Amino acid sequence: MTPANQQAAPLLDCLRTLANRQRAAFHTPGHKQGQSAPAPLANLLGTQVFRADLPELPELDNLFAPTGVIQAAQALAAAAFGAEQTWFLANGSTCGIATAVLATCCPGERLIVPRNAHQSLISALILSGAIPIWVEPDYDPDWQIALCPSPASIQAALAEHPDAKAVLLVSPTYHGICADIASIAQITQQYDIPLLVDEAHGAHLAFHPDLPPSALASGADLAVQSIHKTLSALTQAAMLHVQGSRLDRNRISQALQLVQSTSPSYLLLASLDAARQQMATTGEVLLDQTLHLAAQARTQLSQIPGLAVLTTSSQSPTSPYQLDPTRLTIDVTGLGLTGFQADEILHQSLNVTAELPGLNTLTFILTPGNTPADIAHLIQACQSLATTSPHPTPPPPTPHPSPPTPHHLSPCRLLLPHPRPTHRTGNLSDQRRIDLSLSARYSGFAARRINYS
Ligand SMILES: Cc1ncc(COP(=O)(O)O)c(C=O)c1O
Repeated sequence: MTPANQQAAPLLDCLRTLANRQRAAFHTPGHKQGQSAPAPLANLLGTQVFRADLPELPELDNLFAPTGVIQAAQALAAAAFGAEQTWFLANGSTCGIATAVLATCCPGERLIVPRNAHQSLISALILSGAIPIWVEPDYDPDWQIALCPSPASIQAALAEHPDAKAVLLVSPTYHGICADIASIAQITQQYDIPLLVDEAHGAHLAFHPDLPPSALASGADLAVQSIHKTLSALTQAAMLHVQGSRLDRNRISQALQLVQSTSPSYLLLASLDAARQQMATTGEVLLDQTLHLAAQARTQLSQIPGLAVLTTSSQSPTSPYQLDPTRLTIDVTGLGLTGFQADEILHQSLNVTAELPGLNTLTFILTPGNTPADIAHLIQACQSLATTSPHPTPPPPTPHPSPPTPHHLSPCRLLLPHPRPTHRTGNLSDQRRIDLSLSARYSGFAARRINYS
């Protein structure tokens, strides 16, 4: 049952009222609610977006010391996402991750982190001066993707570094792999240190029982979510959630002042309020449809000769990892293509744009925004790709060196590129060679299309 007050959207409502009020504005932003908006931009965006692009007027509260509509909207979000306290973020999960680290580690203190962390964690380490204790994630050699660190590897890292101030996990990963957060939370609780989860890709998890449990539901102390990635907030809008008493909440608020603009966009903040209202009131129905479409796409894609689809059964039956079913990863090597080549053809010629190309794979994000027509388009495009690909029949499988157990892999043997490879990122292998020109060539293309900072 949706609590009745989840129908409310206090910040959105207040912004709407103020956007429609006639005033003489002698404050920022300089476009004065669109009066001097550049015409080409106003033609693209419409005028209402300028009317609502307002600064911190008295009625609109203050993101850094909320006592009014932002406080009310954050409280509703905390209830909807299963947190005790929620902070709205106007600078993406990037600033939430920096905050999580700044609020737990002083310079020189240790933080246990997975080797496949997002680059925002690297920035957080630089800003905080924390010392990373790297933990290898398990690795799927068939799909050549990083999973998550096992509870045993976290236990071992903490046994070696009992003075660590926190453990940070990425879950779900870009490929939708969810860590065994519940087991890891039991370990961090024994050490009485916070478990921080980069849940940038998991904002939807709390809203459907058929999805893997959210980080907070699994016992994490803090979760950072990009509401713009899998829900329908505007790009850069994110949330930081906390529960329990292991984190100093004042320190979180102070850290957020360090990493966010003093002029946060109310368009972004109101979009967080709207996205929460949408999910709290209709999320399960919306995700029913998304799950149905994802299942349909999985079945149809797996019937296309030369394509393989990552499923939960791709993992061993004893695997502790759950796969987010709304994340579709296909292996295109059976078509004689790399993931980068397939992505380029799909995007340039077939008008289908994936989220993440890899050397062998392509990953697609499905959200409540996707329609049956999108899925039909995807299937048709992949069929066309299969028919026109250079090698429509799968090549003989290349033997993969079988690792002893995944978490015994040495750091230098793993290749864990940034989700969208660039010249700047990736751990080089001493064992395998790959053609980096592929990713280098691709990164220019990617930067033009989706700019990963
Ligand atoms: C795992 C992970 N964490 C954090 C981020 C940063 O999120 P945002 O773009 O909301 O700043 C990303 C972005 O791609 C990500 O993939």
